[in-house]
Amino acid sequence: MPRPLRVGLIGAGSIAQAHMAGWQQNAHAEVVAICDISRPVREGTAERWGVSKDALFEDYRKMLKHVELDAVDICTPNSYHKAQTIAAFRAGCHVMVEKPVATSASDCRRMITAGKKAQRLLMVAQVMRFSGEGQTLRAWVDAGLVGDVYWGYCTLLRARGVPPWGKFIDGQASGGGPCYDLGVHILDMALWLMDFPEPVTVSAGTYLQVANKASLMKHKPRKYTVPEDMAAGFIRFKNGATLSLQTSWALNVTEEFSARNIILCGTKGGLQYSPPTLVREQDGMLVNYTPQIGAPVGESGFVDEIDAFVEAIRHGQPSPVPGEQALITQRILDGIYASGEAGKEVKV
Ligand SMILES: NC(=O)c1ccc[n+]([C@@H]2O[C@H](COP(=O)([O-])OP(=O)(O)OC[C@H]3O[C@@H](n4cnc5c(N)ncnc54)[C@H](O)[C@@H]3O)[C@@H](O)[C@H]2O)c1
Repeated sequence: MPRPLRVGLIGAGSIAQAHMAGWQQNAHAEVVAICDISRPVREGTAERWGVSKDALFEDYRKMLKHVELDAVDICTPNSYHKAQTIAAFRAGCHVMVEKPVATSASDCRRMITAGKKAQRLLMVAQVMRFSGEGQTLRAWVDAGLVGDVYWGYCTLLRARGVPPWGKFIDGQASGGGPCYDLGVHILDMALWLMDFPEPVTVSAGTYLQVANKASLMKHKPRKYTVPEDMAAGFIRFKNGATLSLQTSWALNVTEEFSARNIILCGTKGGLQYSPPTLVREQDGMLVNYTPQIGAPVGESGFVDEIDAFVEAIRHGQPSPVPGEQALITQRILDGIYASGEAGKEVKV
C-alpha cells in the first residue's frame, strides 16, 4: 500500500481545526507540518492533533523548503491565498485552499495557471457542496428532475453576525466582508447546481450602514475596513438565466428572514436548499418532496471535503472543486464590488 500523503497546513486558526478533524480520520493522508505566524496557535494546534513539534514553522516558505510534502491545506486570511498557493505549486504540492479562492479574478487566474504548470490539483474548500443538503440537491439535478434552471435566489443574511475572531473585518487581510465570508458559499452552491453558466453582467448594491455603528456588534466601529456589511446583487448569464444574491453580517431584519436558503427554478422542477426540497408536478398536483429518512442532512461536510481531495490525488482524478469554477464565482464577486462602487451594472 502506498504511504499516506504528507500534508502541510498553512494557517492553523479557527477553520483549520475543522480541517484537522477531517485529516485525522483520513487513512490515506497525514498532516506532518504546520505553519502559522502565531506561535501559540501553531503549537496549540500541533498539541491538540498530535503533530510533531519539530515540524512547526512561522514562514510557509521554510516549511515548503524543508519538509517533503505532497499537498498543502491553506487556511489563512483571504489575501494570502494567492501567494501561498503559487509557492506550494512551485514546491510540487497539490493545494486545497479555503474560500474565497482569492480576492480578485486575476489572482485566481494566476493560481490556476501555476497549478497547470506544476501539474498539481487546485481544490477550493467549498464545504457546502459536501453537506447532506448539497449532495441531495445535486443528486436531483443529476437525475434530470430539475431541467434547465432559469431563475435562482440565494440568501445568507445575518442580522448581527460578524465573526468576532480573526481578520474578517480587516480590508487588507480579507479583501471583502460578507460577500467573501458568507455569500461565496451560497453563490458557489447555486452556480454548482446550475452547472456554472457563463456570467455576463452584475448589478449590485454594497452597503456599510450598520456594522460600523450598531452597539450590538462585536468590534469597534472604526475597525471595519471592508467595503460592505451587506450586499445585494443581480446576475445575468449568457444562457438567459438570472440569479439574485443577498448576504449580510449586519442588517435590520427579522430572525426568520435571515436564514440561509437557495431557491432554484428549472423547466421541470424547483429546488430549495433548506430543508432540501424538490418541487414538481405529480398526479395533477404541485408537490413538495422533502426526504424524511435517507438524506444525510446536517453533516458538516469537512470530512467528505478532505476525503474528496485525497481521493482525487490518489487516483489522478480532476479536482472536486476546480479553480475554473471558483474563477466564475470570483468574477461575479468582483462584479458585485465593482457595481456597488460604480452604482451601475457592470460586465463581468
Ligand atoms: N469553510 C468555512 O465554513 C469557513 C469558515 C471560516 C473561515 N473560512 C475561511 O478560512 C480562512 C481562515 O479563516 P479562519 O476563520 O480560520 O481565520 P483565523 O483568523 O481563525 O485563522 C487564520 C490563521 O492564519 C494565520 N496566518 C495569518 N497570516 C498567515 C501567514 N502569512 N502565514 C501563516 N499563517 C498565517 C493566523 O495567525 C491565524 O491563526 C479564510 O479564508 C476564511 O474565509 C472558511
